Amino acid sequence: MKLIVTKNYAALSQEAALQIAIAVEAKPSAAIVVATGNTPVGAYEQLAALKAIGQFDPAKLTIFQLDEYLGLAADDKRTLWGWMERAFLTPLGLSPQKVVRLNTDTADAEATCRAYDSAVQAAGGFDLCILGLGPNGHLAFNEPPVEATSDTRVVTLTEESIESNSLYWGGRDQVPPQAMTAGLRPLLAAKLVILLVSGAKKRDILRRVMSGPVTGAVPASFLQLHANVIVIADKDAVA
Ligand code: PGA
Repeated sequence: MKLIVTKNYAALSQEAALQIAIAVEAKPSAAIVVATGNTPVGAYEQLAALKAIGQFDPAKLTIFQLDEYLGLAADDKRTLWGWMERAFLTPLGLSPQKVVRLNTDTADAEATCRAYDSAVQAAGGFDLCILGLGPNGHLAFNEPPVEATSDTRVVTLTEESIESNSLYWGGRDQVPPQAMTAGLRPLLAAKLVILLVSGAKKRDILRRVMSGPVTGAVPASFLQLHANVIVIADKDAVA
């Protein structure tokens, strides 16, 4: 894993946007999966700024949703789809039509997951994963313990994820207990993973991810086995 340490969150966002723009310039039709959560929001703003000056062109990308809560109405403000629209698609002027979604508003979640994994395969796998890091080491909602070969599926959130997600929505009772998540199998098969980590709260888990044992108890530790990972972390997140 290559580690880039930045002086603060603003610099992390700039560096992340730069690395994403470089990857997309090398392959404008890349298949990319983009995280929600607070950490990548600044990077997406920077990407919109790069697009405005002609240094980033997302028009040919195939974009995949990373995860979604189960059991929310389509117009519920807590959907991660809504977050993805607000933080990524709208600032970059991208049509929702372009996105391979994890639509949880379905009677057959298993079929949605299989269709998603087939779409990833049809795209030749992910070229780029833009990921955040959960306080419990999760990637997307691949909660510990997890196998590296896990496919896209429905999961039950851990207490730690419910706690961390409660900060977004104003209380633990506002966090749906289940979600659909891209599996570790397609994520770990990506050609490039960019992992964004910010803040002292993530310091201990980032240390375990990067230099602890490779174990399903810390899902992101599987990235140690991946040939092409860039971790971009601000100083506060690095021990
Ligand atoms: P955060 O979430 O970017 O809001 O810290 C990361 C995650 O839980 O995966």
